[in-house]
Amino acid sequence: PGLAVYDPGFTNTASCRSSVTYIDGDKGILEYRGYPIEQLAEHSNFLEVAYLLIHGELPTKEQYEAWEHEITFHTFVHENVKSLMQGFRYDAHPMGMLMASVGALSTFYPAAGNIHDADNRHMQIVRMIAKMPTLGAWSFRHAQGKPYVYPDNDLSYTANFLSMLFKMSESKYQPDERLVKALDVLFILHADHEQNCSANAVRSVGSSQVDPYSSVAAGIGALFGPLHGGANEAVLRMLRRIGSKENIPAFIEGVKNGDERLMGFGHRVYKNYDPRARIIKKAADDVFEVTGVNPLLEIAQELEKIALEDEYFVKRKLYPNVDFYSGLIYEALEFPPEMFTVLFAIGRTPGWLAQWNELVQDKEQKIARPKQIYTGDRGLTFTPAAERW
Ligand code: CMC
Repeated sequence: PGLAVYDPGFTNTASCRSSVTYIDGDKGILEYRGYPIEQLAEHSNFLEVAYLLIHGELPTKEQYEAWEHEITFHTFVHENVKSLMQGFRYDAHPMGMLMASVGALSTFYPAAGNIHDADNRHMQIVRMIAKMPTLGAWSFRHAQGKPYVYPDNDLSYTANFLSMLFKMSESKYQPDERLVKALDVLFILHADHEQNCSANAVRSVGSSQVDPYSSVAAGIGALFGPLHGGANEAVLRMLRRIGSKENIPAFIEGVKNGDERLMGFGHRVYKNYDPRARIIKKAADDVFEVTGVNPLLEIAQELEKIALEDEYFVKRKLYPNVDFYSGLIYEALEFPPEMFTVLFAIGRTPGWLAQWNELVQDKEQKIARPKQIYTGDRGLTFTPAAERW
C-alpha cells in the first residue's frame, strides 16, 4: 500500500491466485487443472473439458451425463433476445451482436446478480455455456439475411452449433463427424489461457460483484480486439493481401521496418512455441481432408518458414501462435472472417466462467483498482468559459 510500481500491461504483476490453468511459456506447456492440453485435445471433448475447468476435476459418468443434459436443455434463448438481435443493422459485426446479447441476458435472469449463492452461480454457468452457440450462430445467420435456426437438442454440443449455422432445409442437419471433431478440438484449445486480456477483463469487471453476464460481455469486448481474439481474422486478411509467395519478402521487410505486425506470430507468454499451434496443424490436416486445401495455406507455410529463419523474429522469440492456422481452418469450414472471434468466444466461455467462479469465492480478492503514475498538471486555477473565450 502506498507504493506504486509502474507496470503497463501487467507484465510483472500477478492480479490473482488461480488453480485453473498453468502455462510455462519457456517450455511450451499448457495445462487445464493439471491436465496437458495435448491429452485433452486428443482424448476428451469440449463439454468434458468445460466441466473440468468449472469444477476442478474430471466428471464421473453420472456427473458427465447430468452436465451434458443440463447444457443441452438450456440452449434455447428467450424470444425477445431473438428480437433484440434482429434489430441490428444488416452488416453488424457478429462480435458486437454477441457482446450485446450476452450483456442483455443479465436482464432476463435478474437473479444472476446473487453471486454468493453456489446453486445460482451454477445455473448461470450452465445457461451461458449452453446459449453461447445459439447466440453466435444467430449473429452469423443475421449477417447473411437468413432465418435464425433453433437448437436441435438431439445433436451434440458442437454438431448442434453447426446445425444452427448451416441448416438450409426442414430435414435434419447431418454434419460430417470429422468436421465436428475438428471444431470441438478448436474449442478445447481456446477454452482457457490464464490471465489473458479477456479473462482479466472478466475478472476486473467481476470484482465489482456484478452478475456473470455483464462480466462475460466485458470479456467478449476484450476478445474483439485485433491483438487478442481478432488476430486470426487479421491473419486471413494479411494472407489475402500478400496474395502470392513472391510478395512475402517485401511484406517481411515492411514488418521489420515497423510498418505492421506479422499477425498470428508472437505471444506475451510463449517464448519458445505455442503448444496449441502444433495441435491445430493436425486439426487443419483433418479438415482439409474433407474440404480440400485452403489456397492461402501455401502462403502461410512459406511465411512461417521465412519468419522462423529470419533474425528479427528469432531474436525476439516470435513463433506462430494459435491464431496463425485457426483462421485457415475456419475459412475451410466456410466461416467468414467476422465469425472467427465468435468461435474463439464460444470456446473461451468455460474458462471465463471458471475464473469468474473462482474469483467470487476468493476471500482475498478485492475490487480491481490499479494504481497510476500521474503525469498531468496540478493545482491550476480555473477560469470560467466566459472569461477565457
Ligand atoms: N510481428 C512483428 N513484430 C512483433 C510481433 C509481430 N507479430 N510481435 C511482437 N513483435 C516485436 C515488437 O515490435 C517488439 O519489438 P521491439 O523489441 O523491437 O520493440 C518485440 O517483438 C516485443 O513485442 P511486444 O509488443 O512487447 O510483445 P507483447 O508480449 O506485448 O505482445 C502480442 C504480444 C501477442 C500482442 C504481439 O506478439 C502481437 O501483437 N502479435 C500479433 C497479434 C497476434 O497474433 N495476437 C494473438 C495472440 S495469441 C491469441 C490470444 O491470446 O489472443
